[in-house]
Amino acid sequence: MSFWTKKSRIVITCAKEVPPFLKQEILSLGLPVLSAGMAEVETEGTMEDALRLNLLIRTGQRILFLLGSFNAKAPDDLYRRISQISWEDYIPEDSYFSVTSSVHNPTIKDSRFANVKCKDAVVDRIKEKRGRRPDTGPERDRIVVHLYWKGNIAQVFLDTSGEPLSKRGYRMIPLKAPMQETLAAAVVLATGWTGNGNFINPMCGSGTLAIEAASIALNRAPGLSRSNYGFMHLIGFDESSWKVLRRKIRAETKDRLNGRMIATDVSQQAVEAAKKNALTAGVDRFIEFGVCDFSQTPVPTNGGVLILNPEYGERMGETEKLRETYKEIGDFFKKKCQGYKGYVFTGNLDLAKKVGLRTNRRITFFNGPIECRLLEYDLYGGSRKEVSSKLQSPIIK
Ligand SMILES: C[S@@+](CC[C@H](N)C(=O)[O-])C[C@H]1O[C@@H](n2cnc3c(N)ncnc32)[C@H](O)[C@@H]1O
Repeated sequence: MSFWTKKSRIVITCAKEVPPFLKQEILSLGLPVLSAGMAEVETEGTMEDALRLNLLIRTGQRILFLLGSFNAKAPDDLYRRISQISWEDYIPEDSYFSVTSSVHNPTIKDSRFANVKCKDAVVDRIKEKRGRRPDTGPERDRIVVHLYWKGNIAQVFLDTSGEPLSKRGYRMIPLKAPMQETLAAAVVLATGWTGNGNFINPMCGSGTLAIEAASIALNRAPGLSRSNYGFMHLIGFDESSWKVLRRKIRAETKDRLNGRMIATDVSQQAVEAAKKNALTAGVDRFIEFGVCDFSQTPVPTNGGVLILNPEYGERMGETEKLRETYKEIGDFFKKKCQGYKGYVFTGNLDLAKKVGLRTNRRITFFNGPIECRLLEYDLYGGSRKEVSSKLQSPIIK
């Protein structure tokens, strides 16, 4: 039986605090959740399930398919056990692979040493079986083997994603301080957004939040914009069934929204980049873009989700100016956003206090190493004049 149809454990890694959202995604795809850790969720399935996960999961980073789990006290045990795996069944002739690892073992000071041991075991095994060795290196655009070694337990995986899934393939122009795509998806899901009502994103930067929100509303699979995955380089990858799967999943995309999606930024360059990124992501025609100060963003009266990701300010002086900006966000919420659930995503809680409104929920996320909060504000009713049905600021075509 080919390894493509065998069931195994599948570990999906993610950013810290994201597992609750990832669990929901896995369950909604009809797969079980076996366990959840700080930054990963474990499920089980075949390589075919792994392909589906690569296409459909929004909040996960890497889909790791377990090949072997064993006891290893020291590097020699690791080498011996990894060379017992039949790598010649997975890695084609004349191919290239890289090794990544997560190592917490007292005998290993530098995880690169464990990587080398793992790489040598795979190369030596293949050389012994075929007489030729595969190429290896740091590139993750082909086959990736992942080693997880904690205490005496080692697990060896195929990283079926290759490059992390946050590289969706649509963000050609990242600009400064962009949010990772997978984190943006988790933040949007945390607002409860499913596509009902309006989605308003002032300070949109390169457009990541708006693009992820549009994909969620349209049920557009996040993996459709990407053409290369680790699994494509393995023995037995069937390109024609992959195309059928992609076509089937693409056909499930909706072609209309229930509300308006508006993304603005004060920087024309940011809005141009966001528009191009949205085009690559296949959602540009659903988002109205405009260049304006956040406070001038048109906010239709019938409610929805309104989210801002202002800068956090790392240097003095910047922080001073940002205090004023955060205060103005509070005024904007009070005066112009009644009927909405308002959100601020920030890594600076002191600045967040300047918004001056009572938070309804505070959800912790990590943007890389920076602990952040998604702050939710219930912006209750009150009468407000309807804004014009078009953006007043220039729309970037
Ligand atoms: C942290 S970045 C947003 C990053 C975005 N989430 C992404 O993924 O690319 C903050 C953005 O706010 C914009 N900005 C700063 N002050 C603004 C203001 N007063 N009105 C509108 N946009 C502003 C900046 O141009 C920048 O693009």
